[in-house]
Amino acid sequence: AASDPGLVARALAAKEALGERLFVLGHHYQRDEVIQFADVTGDSFKLAREAAARPDAEFIVFCGVHFMAESADILTADSQKVVLPDMAAGCSMADMARLAQVEDAWDALAAAGIADAVVPITYMNSSADIKAFCGRNGGAVCTSSNAEVALEWAFAQKPDVEGGAKVFFFPDQHLGRNTAVLQMGYSLEDCVVWNPHLPNGGLTVQQLRDAKMILWRGHCSVHGRFTADVIDELRATHADLNVIVHPECTYEVVTKADLVGSTEFIIKTIEAAEPGTTWAIGTELNLVKRLADAHPDKNIVFLDRNVCYCSTMNRIDLPHLVWALENLVAGNVVNQISVDPATEAEAKVALQRMLDLPG
Ligand code: 13P
Ligand code: SF4
Repeated sequence: AASDPGLVARALAAKEALGERLFVLGHHYQRDEVIQFADVTGDSFKLAREAAARPDAEFIVFCGVHFMAESADILTADSQKVVLPDMAAGCSMADMARLAQVEDAWDALAAAGIADAVVPITYMNSSADIKAFCGRNGGAVCTSSNAEVALEWAFAQKPDVEGGAKVFFFPDQHLGRNTAVLQMGYSLEDCVVWNPHLPNGGLTVQQLRDAKMILWRGHCSVHGRFTADVIDELRATHADLNVIVHPECTYEVVTKADLVGSTEFIIKTIEAAEPGTTWAIGTELNLVKRLADAHPDKNIVFLDRNVCYCSTMNRIDLPHLVWALENLVAGNVVNQISVDPATEAEAKVALQRMLDLPG
């Protein structure tokens, strides 16, 4: 639907009034009505880097979800203010790993006698206190665009441990499994799933000792909707179909796809595709629709029978953006995301380890 012209004019006026003091970041899953006002769009890795690269912006308005705004706050100077236009824009996957649960699991790994071998890696889609946990325990953050290099780094961290390092990966079991098995050559048997709702994660001590990857039982409710049978159906009805999916999809779906990668990778792949080619895309619907609109010379289909927006990404709408911007113009910083200094310092260590990875 077209954006409300009155709100568009107000957003433009507020941006104009704030000028260089304001920088607006937009994740690829944001609505059209919002993304049009982003100074930079990107995947979560690119947006973290962009936030860190804007030391002159007094206000960073983050059109994305809560964990992304927290990361931007951690990576920017204390004097800069990060604003999330709707505080209810969270991430159900990030909510699946709470600090107390992760600490309980860590204690259980110690009780199993493997604490010295384990390196914790958290997906960017996690709260700041989970990132801080990784920072103080020798671990790092990763995103969907650098998970393989982050895992390589982690496995190289314990050269003196017999049997080598193990990775404790949270909250997204699928990104962890897909990266370890499909990109790095580990086997499915090398991976075990830690269920935070069961005693000892639902695992025996021997299973923990034998594992290379201990995967948190978390997932994305949006990417979890894509199924292998829809891929089969689409391949049967579309000649020369290329299937490209995000690594938050299940192992079965990623195995059946032709290409897998972050939102930025998906965009670049579609941009580079030959006219006339056919693509089924397994990621959030705002992005897929935008790609279909931008590439009418390519045949782009959505990899789900139903609509599949990320409901929390969609909470950032034009009224919320206008409200946040107009308040900034009036001198009121609303919905500021401010990570406490102790958490920030430790989370920054884990984020910096990611930013320092090669590639
Ligand atoms: P990207 O890192 O590919 O942007 O994906 C992050 C994500 O899941 C946003 O929900
Ligand atoms: Fe979280 Fe999934 Fe939405 Fe990304 S798409 S913000 S992982 S719920």
